Amino acid sequence: MRYRLLGRRTGLRVSELALGTGMLGRAWGYGADPDEARRILQGYAEAGGNFIDTADNYQFGESERLVGAFAGPDRDGFVIASKFGRGAGPSPALAAVGDSRKAMVQAVEASLRRLGTDRIDLYFAHMHDGVTPAAEVARGLDDLVRAGKVVYAGLSNFPAWRVAAAAVTADLRGWVPVAAIQVEYSLLQRTTERELLPMADGLGLGVMGWSPMAGGLLTGKYRNGERGRATDLKASVLHDDPARHGPVLDALVAVADEVRSTPGRVAIAWVSGKGVLPVLGPRTRAQLDDNLAAAALKLSADHVRRLDAVSATPAGYPHELLAADDQRATMTGGRWEQIDRPEQTVA
Ligand SMILES: NC(=O)c1ccc[n+]([C@@H]2O[C@H](COP(=O)([O-])OP(=O)(O)OC[C@H]3O[C@@H](n4cnc5c(N)ncnc54)[C@H](OP(=O)(O)O)[C@@H]3O)[C@@H](O)[C@H]2O)c1
Repeated sequence: MRYRLLGRRTGLRVSELALGTGMLGRAWGYGADPDEARRILQGYAEAGGNFIDTADNYQFGESERLVGAFAGPDRDGFVIASKFGRGAGPSPALAAVGDSRKAMVQAVEASLRRLGTDRIDLYFAHMHDGVTPAAEVARGLDDLVRAGKVVYAGLSNFPAWRVAAAAVTADLRGWVPVAAIQVEYSLLQRTTERELLPMADGLGLGVMGWSPMAGGLLTGKYRNGERGRATDLKASVLHDDPARHGPVLDALVAVADEVRSTPGRVAIAWVSGKGVLPVLGPRTRAQLDDNLAAAALKLSADHVRRLDAVSATPAGYPHELLAADDQRATMTGGRWEQIDRPEQTVA
């Protein structure tokens, strides 16, 4: 396992693959039982993994409890990320959900209790709630850091302009910086490249990418008639357009054959190659071991080019307009980059 800095705004060193724990627990009626969950956490730690992602709502709080129980004896050896805003039960009260300062201060105390720790290393607002002003979220996170309950702050599933507003407001007012974002990113979800990834690059935010295998679709197993989340826990798999999957899976299988690997590992390696830190989501220890092997996989420029081409997503306005103007900007490898302007001659 190698390690990376989480963005350019922190000195936080995290393993190149994060362990997502949405499938640790059985409270959703689907996931790993406590023994299997422990085997997953143990295997990740033995492989050198130090970056664990959880949330208050994962398995209605069971995920945080399992993570806390495992990490407890070596708490300082792990970077634990958690999230608030969704509530920890099947039907949380209205006043307990969302991004408001009230929901935030209640949720952090409950998460600290479940995790059995006195601080959360990286705390995310889980999902933009449509109403809470960016400054309320940023200032609330600032308070939690100053109170010693949280170490770093992040935003997950927020529109780019709202992240930028929160980050710049925090910078100008001397609040704790927004350090990272968490976004969906995979070969089946590349709209993230339109605004979120360039924004994170511009502001120096770390980027964690969830569902790097699109909830398991990119393992290719459903083509073989196997069961999994897409058949048994449908809400956890978002992309159900087989017409789009087909060509992407064909290319993934071809590349996987060429590099003697599996489609799922290639999908994870592709995310990592884009500078986004993949958040794995294994439900079994065997899946974890399979997913971790992606760290050793190096895709050639030709493999990446083929995967980019087959999964290309329209950049939309204004990016397409700007891209057509070769004096202004170009898009390479999924990132918008400035190019040199030709010399301007002033008559
Ligand atoms: N911030 C957010 O809003 C947000 C949202 C979603 C997830 N997340 C985080 O991201 C993590 C990862 O998301 P994800 O679970 O969707 O990631 P993913 O890697 O796209 O999908 C993981 C799923 O694929 C299947 N799988 C994994 N390895 C396999 C293998 N070798 N063979 C066959 N199937 C395999 C398993 O599901 P089955 O075997 O059950 O089919 C597993 O649960 C979550 O745990 C969570 O921490 C965050």
